[in-house]
Amino acid sequence: MPFMSKVKLAVLISGGGTNLQAIIDAIAQKKINAEIVCVGSNKPDAYGLERAKKAGIATFFLNYKEAKESFQQEDAWLSYFNEREQATNLSPNNSPFRRMNQEELTSRIIAEKLLLEKLAQFKVDFLVCAGFMKLLTPFFMEQFQPDPLKPRIINIHPALLPAFPGTDGYGDAYSYGTKVHGATVHFVDYGVDSGPIIDQSCYRRLSNESEDSFKSRGLELEWELYVKCLKLLCEKRLKIFRNSSKRIIVEEMPKRKFNPH
Ligand code: GRF
Repeated sequence: MPFMSKVKLAVLISGGGTNLQAIIDAIAQKKINAEIVCVGSNKPDAYGLERAKKAGIATFFLNYKEAKESFQQEDAWLSYFNEREQATNLSPNNSPFRRMNQEELTSRIIAEKLLLEKLAQFKVDFLVCAGFMKLLTPFFMEQFQPDPLKPRIINIHPALLPAFPGTDGYGDAYSYGTKVHGATVHFVDYGVDSGPIIDQSCYRRLSNESEDSFKSRGLELEWELYVKCLKLLCEKRLKIFRNSSKRIIVEEMPKRKFNPH
């Protein structure tokens, strides 16, 4: 689609970055009309950062630990009162941010302010979380995506949401004994793994399947699913609206025919 300018994506990772690699490859093959302008990680040794560097993409380390140290040095808990209030007040009742102590919440906000600077510096359109294992606070979301009907943060979760939210979707579903499992790509909202679903993909557990196989077959589905969803997003083919229950819904729109007149 040569007439559409490329969408600028930032990707956040914490680990191996196989989803990141799938996105890098899909962009190189022109399946997604986007460019990854930067990749950030909260783990300096995440292999995904190497993948980004190999593809010539700028990387950064989101140092939550340093943010915690600066909290201790500067009495930052005083200066970040408003941000903390915002993060807590916008969090749903069951959110971990409501139970987080001042130090922890302030440190996250300090790190997220640096992230906001990066996103502004690279003029990022969408933030793509691909195995990023830190929750973003509602403070951050208010800055980056103030309008819930124009979401800009996307995540992939290794389960068929709303089943098995949390950090270990495959492990939890495997030990529960589900026969059908899958992955979900969704926009991020104030809750944990609760945002509007863009699409899902599923597979059946094999008889006597090991947990490793269960997980790796799921991960392979993730790569395809994430590419499909990002393609739709970058082609502006996602319709986002509230249904009669006030829930935000995402629907895929058909491809528009090119009409030069
Ligand atoms: C994926 O299963 C993703 O859904 C989960 O963490 C894993 C990351 O894998 N949140 P990778 O770093 O993309 O290989």
